[in-house]
Amino acid sequence: LVHSASQVVTVRNDAKIIAARGQEMRHVDIVEGTEQCGVSVLIDSNGKIAFVGLDTDVAFEFPDVHKEVERTIDARGKSIVPGLVDAHTHPVWVGDRVHEFAMKLAGATYMEVHAAGGGIHYTVEKTRNASEEELYCSLVERLYSMLSTGTTCVECKSGYGLDVDTEIKMLSVIEKARKEVPISISCTYCGAHAVPKGKTSQEATDDVIKHQIPKIRELMSKEELHVDNIDVFCEKGVFDVNQSRRILQAGKDAGMNLNFHGDELSPLDGAKMGAELGALAISHLEEISDSGIDAMTKAGSVGVVLPTTAYILRLTPPPVRKMIESGMAVALGSDFNPNAYCMSMPMVMHLACVIFRMSMPEALVAATLNSAAALGRSGDLGTLSVGKCGDMVIINAPRWEHLVYQFGCHNETISSVIRNGDVV
Ligand code: NIG
Ligand code: FE
Repeated sequence: LVHSASQVVTVRNDAKIIAARGQEMRHVDIVEGTEQCGVSVLIDSNGKIAFVGLDTDVAFEFPDVHKEVERTIDARGKSIVPGLVDAHTHPVWVGDRVHEFAMKLAGATYMEVHAAGGGIHYTVEKTRNASEEELYCSLVERLYSMLSTGTTCVECKSGYGLDVDTEIKMLSVIEKARKEVPISISCTYCGAHAVPKGKTSQEATDDVIKHQIPKIRELMSKEELHVDNIDVFCEKGVFDVNQSRRILQAGKDAGMNLNFHGDELSPLDGAKMGAELGALAISHLEEISDSGIDAMTKAGSVGVVLPTTAYILRLTPPPVRKMIESGMAVALGSDFNPNAYCMSMPMVMHLACVIFRMSMPEALVAATLNSAAALGRSGDLGTLSVGKCGDMVIINAPRWEHLVYQFGCHNETISSVIRNGDVV
């Protein structure tokens, strides 16, 4: 039982809403306490939310609550929001690319560094040579860091192997973390993250489709791996639209949701292709066309925007206002990777407000319900609704907006993070 908070913010307390689209993103439901009466959240022994509302009502609905409750967290003067969901990360790798940050500050573009054999290629080499143990330890450390900034569910991609053995090594590391770390994980196979050195993009496409996906599918059928999504970097100089379409279709046939990188650096109309295939989500979208927006909106694909990358690469921001106005469900992700080294969703929300011109409620919806929807998890995550998982963030301030307003100081802003009813 978390009791006597001054505000509990639940992003549309309606189980029927799978994702908030367009104007709906403006609204968050706030249960507001008063001097006399605070607000409470009650979580049952299965870790599910049993009640959200005024203290007087909890006493009425559950008269014996104070006898039965195992643990009470006093949140007086604080506020509560749903656990944050990070819809896009690349958290399995070793080595860093701080030297490339210097190159980019000196004027090199992301694709120049990549074409010269750095970028993803640099990380692939380090990751291929790393042991499973080494990758696992660094992943666990990162997941705990994400938890400390309020993330209770995170999408984790492979994609620094680009060969079947290393991709499976990465997916196995994610699988192990799923069982051992108190954070929900949505696992994404991203074997087509780049064209490996020595191969053409056509050869790499065939390798992914004919060799990697069948092997991963076999491990999925033996329940040795649980892969939720397939990703591809659909970009000029990486995988073109037709190659991306073939890769995504093969993943779909293997039972994976489509969730990929599109229209980031060049306007290839990847969004349109993804919408045609029924993509659950498409990420980046800095270069999305008007017809791409229209196609995604009609198809119900979630647009995952990534402010850290747009910021660090000084890209023109995606047309987020247009996307929201068209009625698209827009979600947020940290895109944590060696290029954009940020694990903090409150920081991402702050950047989304300032550089993508989202309002604070829109950023909260995008970082909870809509990011859960981008992972097909909005039925049990993303809002503080009765029956959903007891995942929440207690904020050290009487108004929830402090989570976005205060930036770069989450230790002071966040008081506790709760997942399935446990303080983590
Ligand atoms: O989302 N654009 C492709 N993938 C990542 C970057 C990965 C990397 O640079 O290591 C992204 O920005
Ligand atoms: Fe990415």
